[in-house]
Amino acid sequence: MSDLNKNDVKACYFANKNIVITGVTSGIGLSITHLLLKQGAIVYGIARNQDKLNDIKTKYPDNFIPVEADLSDDSGWDDVANKLSDSIDTVILNAGTCEYMENGLVDVDLIKRVFDINFFANISAAKLFLNENKWSVKQYCVVSSSAHFFAMPRGEAYGASKAALSYFYESLQLSHPDIAFSIVHPGFVETPLTDKNDFDMPFKITSDKAADIIVKGLMKKKKQINFPWLFMFILKTLGKLPSSLRYKLGKGMVEK
Ligand SMILES: NC(=O)c1ccc[n+]([C@@H]2O[C@H](COP(=O)([O-])OP(=O)(O)OC[C@H]3O[C@@H](n4cnc5c(N)ncnc54)[C@H](OP(=O)(O)O)[C@@H]3O)[C@@H](O)[C@H]2O)c1
Repeated sequence: MSDLNKNDVKACYFANKNIVITGVTSGIGLSITHLLLKQGAIVYGIARNQDKLNDIKTKYPDNFIPVEADLSDDSGWDDVANKLSDSIDTVILNAGTCEYMENGLVDVDLIKRVFDINFFANISAAKLFLNENKWSVKQYCVVSSSAHFFAMPRGEAYGASKAALSYFYESLQLSHPDIAFSIVHPGFVETPLTDKNDFDMPFKITSDKAADIIVKGLMKKKKQINFPWLFMFILKTLGKLPSSLRYKLGKGMVEK
């Protein structure tokens, strides 16, 4: 019988694993990075802000490999690929942005900006890591959003990018049964992304709490990591209402 107790097993799940995480310089990605580095993981952390990447490197000189890249660029992942070790155990695609469309005025440039990082950067990642699986990835996590469970005013670009992302990976994982996929649908989390919001954010939690839930979900290899549960229950229930009622509710939010 193993000498390890349950807490030891939890503490060493990510130890010495090579993990790629995108969007490590703030919010949820930064909190996940801290948790995994504390567990002894070797983290390849990707973001654009070199100073913030260096701050993490100063704290964890041995286990953190900063990778500066703009994943919205077509060449973003090519630059990253050259800096990775030969084998990657886990990929966590977290980088993202949110921009709102105002008054239903369709802004194609805005929608493209949002899709470039929230959707297409994560599709390029799938091409890199999953076609032929030359890195032998065993676990793969995508941070989507609860936003796509119920259409909110101004959320056209953001919600559509996340709905597309969730659908893409729910479908793609069917062709990769040997890899443990987790799709994450957070509610509101306190980060620089939501600091810009000018409306009430019910059930908002801290990024550390969100990271804790995500990391525990990954350790259990959960297919979907949705939180907070009460917000998720309400959103999913609203999403199942007849379309006429959903329309009335959504329209009420516009008129508020
Ligand atoms: N906060 C919430 O309430 C909430 C809810 C649901 C889902 N989410 C999702 O959770 C993820 C993290 O969000 P967050 O709230 O933690 O946001 P955040 O604090 O704004 O962090 C976003 C991260 O993504 C990186 N990033 C953005 N654009 C990039 C690009 N073009 N190339 C490389 N890295 C880029 C940023 O780093 P640099 O600026 O240094 O590049 C930053 O590290 C996002 O996918 C978001 O949609 C958040």
